[in-house]
Amino acid sequence: MADEKALEFKILGKCSRSKARVSVISLPHYDVDAPVFMPVGTQGTLKGMTSYQLEKLDCHIILGNTYHLGMRPGTDVLEKVGGLHNFMNWKRAMLTDSGGFQMVSLLKLSEVSEEGVKFQSPHDGSEMLLSPEKSMEIQNTIGADIMMQLDDVISSLTTGSRVEEAMYRSIRWLDRCIKAHKRPAEQNLFPIIQGGLDPKLREICCQEMVKRDCPGYAIGGLSGGEEKEQFWKMVSLCTDYLPENKPRYCMGIGYTTDLIVCVALGADMFDCVYPTRTARFGTALTATGQLSLRQQKFASDFTPIESDCLCSTCRKHSRAYVHSLFSREAVGCHLITVHNIYYQMRLMKEMRDSIMNDKFPDFVKKRFNLLYPDKN
Ligand code: GUN
Ligand code: ZN
Repeated sequence: MADEKALEFKILGKCSRSKARVSVISLPHYDVDAPVFMPVGTQGTLKGMTSYQLEKLDCHIILGNTYHLGMRPGTDVLEKVGGLHNFMNWKRAMLTDSGGFQMVSLLKLSEVSEEGVKFQSPHDGSEMLLSPEKSMEIQNTIGADIMMQLDDVISSLTTGSRVEEAMYRSIRWLDRCIKAHKRPAEQNLFPIIQGGLDPKLREICCQEMVKRDCPGYAIGGLSGGEEKEQFWKMVSLCTDYLPENKPRYCMGIGYTTDLIVCVALGADMFDCVYPTRTARFGTALTATGQLSLRQQKFASDFTPIESDCLCSTCRKHSRAYVHSLFSREAVGCHLITVHNIYYQMRLMKEMRDSIMNDKFPDFVKKRFNLLYPDKN
């Protein structure tokens, strides 16, 4: 990769009893405090939230999707406006996924070959190919601070030779992405470690990708229905092989328990549609678990969603009010989305603070006691 740097990584503090660390990831658009959760916006906007509102919630970095953005507004519009930051008036950092994962998970009709991922356009049914080169071209046009390589994604439950094939293909596609990347001084390209639940394949993938000396690394192909034990084992193995002095991004992780465990295992960045998607189904996140606000029992509950939460929803409105709005008004959904994003941001900040004060083990105990009171 080129000499110019679009990323600097500084570790500010470490936990003495786990692999958890606090860092600042300095990107072209923003200095991101990590461990960090990145809310997901699929169509260039986070559903029900404006860029201004996200900034007010103290989001440092958001995630956009290449597959969706390549379609709408389309690369020609993004090219004209000078990238997605300008288009959505988002001034802080942004990361784009490469598109392959979304296609495999959203479209039954996708087909993977050495060339790339072939799929039928959901708009006009025409056949399209997302190759490593095409993904980089779209992501270079979007202009995010961090771009993900196109990877060969399989379900974490897949077994047999397909797991090995997908891992080695992801390494070959990484090399094609590195070659096709046109703006290494302005944008960072992250590889994605694959290898399913096989420790040996994960090890080989880590070693090969670390050789490419990229600015940061992602751990992919997890949280797809496998046992938690296995998922955490793979994360731990990867963080042991990945360099200490570069950010590590655990893809598709958003549950409170998983975030806490993966931070303890040395991961720095996370994303998931969960907090925003679950809000749209009427579910609020709290330190003691989920609250399904559609339930009738909340119709006359005039307390806030979470009594110690300082988000604008909890400061101004009751559970009963959100309950009454939910089925009738889009704003009900918005109020829960605000709370859920605030909840995730606060969870990450509390982890950073506890690591800095070397109180992370106490923090973990306290949160797990709240989440799993019966397990004491
Ligand atoms: N999002 C969640 N997991 C993955 C993965 O393995 N690859 C990609 N590209 N995106 C993801
Ligand atoms: Zn709140």
